[in-house]
Amino acid sequence: MLDPLPIALAAIATLTVVLVSTVKGTGWEPTEDISDEIVERRANSLPETGFPEPGNRAIGAGGGGGGAIPAGGEGGEGELEEGGSGGSGPGDIPEDEVEYFEVEFAKQGETVELANDEPILEQGEDQGWDLPYACRQGQCVSCAGRIADGPSEDFVEHDNQQMLDENELDDGYTLTCVAYPRDSFTIETGEAP
Ligand code: FES
Repeated sequence: MLDPLPIALAAIATLTVVLVSTVKGTGWEPTEDISDEIVERRANSLPETGFPEPGNRAIGAGGGGGGAIPAGGEGGEGELEEGGSGGSGPGDIPEDEVEYFEVEFAKQGETVELANDEPILEQGEDQGWDLPYACRQGQCVSCAGRIADGPSEDFVEHDNQQMLDENELDDGYTLTCVAYPRDSFTIETGEAP
């Protein structure tokens, strides 16, 4: 005859082991969840440290690719080619449309005809006069002169002069290296504001 008590104790012990094993087994799962959370936190922090965001990539792609630069590049080439032959400046005047104006050089005591497609300085030098200059780019005042007849820009067009302010222009001052005649006038060379 079997004693039921040991059998019952054995069954209880077996169930206890199974339960403990099950509990321990499920105890590892939260570890994976924590890892995912850490990875997610890192991922969220990356854009804030300068990692390119989708928006930034889009800007880069738009500026670098898109139509902007290729289109601008083509335009730039065209401008450069034309600029090389005087394309976009006030001297860009077709040969058959060039006009001439009588300009009196007060200090030289002569009146000459100046074309409207060349700077005053160059045309004065063509006369053999030793006129003052330095940069020849409108970035100093070495070549400055004064038009006695009124505001200089009523008589000349400057090609990107960067030195004279509105008052000086209104007083008749001009930078002869970048000044293209647009009317007849009298000029005193070697006169800076
Ligand atoms: S030479 Fe420098 S502005 Fe004319």
